[in-house]
Amino acid sequence: MTTATQSIEVRRLSPALGAEIIGVDLREPLSGEVFEQILHAWHENLVVLLRNQDLSEDQQWEFGRRFGPLAGGHIPELEGSREGIAYVSNVRKDGKLIGILPDGEMQFHSDQCYRELPSQGSMLHAITIPSAGGDTLFANCYSAYDTLPRDVKQRLVGLRARQVYDYNLNPTQRGTREIAADVPTWVHPVVRIHPATGRKALYVSRLMTSRIEGLAEHESDQLLNLLFDHVEQAQFIYSHAWQKGDVLMWDNRCALHARTNFDPAETRLMRRITLMGEPVVAG
Ligand code: SIN
Repeated sequence: MTTATQSIEVRRLSPALGAEIIGVDLREPLSGEVFEQILHAWHENLVVLLRNQDLSEDQQWEFGRRFGPLAGGHIPELEGSREGIAYVSNVRKDGKLIGILPDGEMQFHSDQCYRELPSQGSMLHAITIPSAGGDTLFANCYSAYDTLPRDVKQRLVGLRARQVYDYNLNPTQRGTREIAADVPTWVHPVVRIHPATGRKALYVSRLMTSRIEGLAEHESDQLLNLLFDHVEQAQFIYSHAWQKGDVLMWDNRCALHARTNFDPAETRLMRRITLMGEPVVAG
């Protein structure tokens, strides 16, 4: 793809989803034309990756802000850190974690699905990565929906499910069926329509979806497990092995993500931006 000002290449990362954007240095001003190409690639591919970037907080913030308003995420302990920037990290300062989600494997989920207005997308910039593991997996929820048997699609029409994030339990693994009274939770459609592409995507995840409304518990469990197993099939997954300098942005409206385990003795430092939420439209 060639523009008058800058030429960028969009290269598929896997058959399931994802594209690498080649030929963009995010430290330089980004023309509207090039940004539109990146936005289009994001909508088409669910995940976009730009390698070998070395961004300051401000530069990452400026890039993230092009996609829409940013959700809060300021870490007051981190000197100089600005509103809208957060860290996914096991780094400690004065004995206190500077970030969120420090250690371990994470099951598939969609960021902020437990809010009325869930985040449209999230971005990580890899600053320090462990020597092995800590990969992030992405699942294509359009393809998962499209390939469901016709009778299952019929069953999903009009269904809504409760999404939960229990911060008091280990947030990386759902450990119990009990939902505490004060945890963030919201009920959303099981199938949603993406506002930009108009496509239907499955909107349930093993980590955060606890119950389909209006179904008996065993029926809800059976249907949810069928959907979790379906969306987590290898054919729908891209597994990202991080390199230092990666800037990767995923679309929470049509992709789930998960994380593989890594040695907690090794440092993992990712700078994160989360886009503000928007209403969920039932599919
Ligand atoms: C997240 O779920 O936002 C964290 C993903 C990761 O650490 O790879």
